[in-house]
Amino acid sequence: MAQTRNTKAINSKSSKSKSSTKDQLTMLEELFVDELKDIYWAEKHLLKALPKMASAATSVKLKKSFTDHLQATKGQVTRLEKAFGLLGKKVQAKKCEAMAGLTKEGEGIIEDTEKGTLTRDVGLIMAAQKVEHYEIATYGSLAQLAKTLGKMDLAKLMVDTLEEEREADQLLTNLAENNINVEATAE
Ligand SMILES: [Fe+2]
Ligand SMILES: [Fe+2]
Repeated sequence: MAQTRNTKAINSKSSKSKSSTKDQLTMLEELFVDELKDIYWAEKHLLKALPKMASAATSVKLKKSFTDHLQATKGQVTRLEKAFGLLGKKVQAKKCEAMAGLTKEGEGIIEDTEKGTLTRDVGLIMAAQKVEHYEIATYGSLAQLAKTLGKMDLAKLMVDTLEEEREADQLLTNLAENNINVEATAE
């Protein structure tokens, strides 16, 4: 059965005049683009949040994990810009309330814990893992959706970032288990 094309269904306000030539997207493609805008905002927001988390962290290893992930995040932003290009859409960010909230929680942890303590690191790891899990859910869904849409080049971009997010999450787990959590019990 032929799929009905409807370019207006999602986000019709933001895709006016420019969207008349190349980008006759299906509803599902429009949904994909909308989600790209959300995660693009989120990654750009993390470019500002990660340096704050790095400077707030106590242990050298945790600081390094945040600064390393900052570098990875810059690459992820570039990948998202490529993804917009592959869909023939202009790069655009749309505020991600979830990421705004998650990073706010991270700031709350910094406020509520003492500088120079591993207790603060325990809190920062928790906050950072919540961020990673949000990203893992997003990129996992987007990778699958890109495959469903038959866009393997797009899927590859999503999978590459998904793997980086999973690595970052695993690294944070390792730091908590060896041995920030245990050492924090002495404070
Ligand atoms: Fe990311
Ligand atoms: Fe991440």
